[in-house]
Amino acid sequence: MEDVSFVRSRRMILDQINWNVSAGDHWVVLGANGSGKTTLLQMLAGYLWPTRGRVTVLGERFGQVDLRLLRKRIGWVGSFLEAQIPSTQRPLDLIVSGKFASIGIFEVPEEQDYRQACDLAAQLRCDHVLDSPYGVLSQGEKQRLLIARALIHRPRLLILDEPCAGLDLVSRELLLHTIEDLAHSEDPPTMVLVTHHLEEIMPAFGRVFMLKNGRCLAQGRKEEVLKSGMMEEAFGIPVHVVEEGGRYWSRVALTR
Ligand SMILES: Nc1ncnc2c1ncn2[C@@H]1O[C@H](COP(=O)(O)OP(=O)(O)OP(=O)(O)O)[C@@H](O)[C@H]1O
Ligand SMILES: [Mg+2]
Repeated sequence: MEDVSFVRSRRMILDQINWNVSAGDHWVVLGANGSGKTTLLQMLAGYLWPTRGRVTVLGERFGQVDLRLLRKRIGWVGSFLEAQIPSTQRPLDLIVSGKFASIGIFEVPEEQDYRQACDLAAQLRCDHVLDSPYGVLSQGEKQRLLIARALIHRPRLLILDEPCAGLDLVSRELLLHTIEDLAHSEDPPTMVLVTHHLEEIMPAFGRVFMLKNGRCLAQGRKEEVLKSGMMEEAFGIPVHVVEEGGRYWSRVALTR
């Protein structure tokens, strides 16, 4: 992104963002509620057009590429998409729909697509829910299906917007390890993860982009950006950051 700004309702939601994600570098986007994280990712995935500036994703410059085709090369997991899924959707159809970058299935899938969907469901440990409609599933089961859906078209860029939201301790850890394993698989997608919890930053994520009120507060190597002082600046209160064995934890000192 080069000098990217995004204005809605006369509000500057993203303000002069410059960001270069190299292939194979996995990034975490941090920032308080409303700082612009989801907006930034929606733009990256070709769902929003910048008000100003230039966006180039997977070598394709916005304005010179059919965004529907570009979206097929990008996987998305997050509530923005989840909210659009009908509760009656069959899990296998949901996974296969990722192939077409659509919510329903409007093209005719092949037998092989369903086989691949079953394999992915097994890989993501959600193959036991394939007979239930999407609406009745637990949060963790839904998140796993959404990741399977995002992976079915072998995306080059995988966007994970709070993928651990609502997961219990164990399900969260399992999902984080699935994400870490994916980063170490053969020819992995480049991943961009949004989270509010430092402990969800797995070792494969080496870089952090920190947003405050739509502006980039800091970006670069995780070890630099996650320093306590920087977190304090982003959130406006003292935040103590601890690193242990390649994972991070935070303690917030809220005085009332
Ligand atoms: N179309 C829009 N019109 C008006 N305001 C908008 C629009 N889209 C987003 N916003 C505002 O822009 C800000 C950034 O929204 P965004 O969803 O990107 O935040 P976020 O960092 O993802 O927050 P959260 O951590 O709560 O998910 C919010 O204040 C939101 O209300
Ligand atoms: Mg968000």
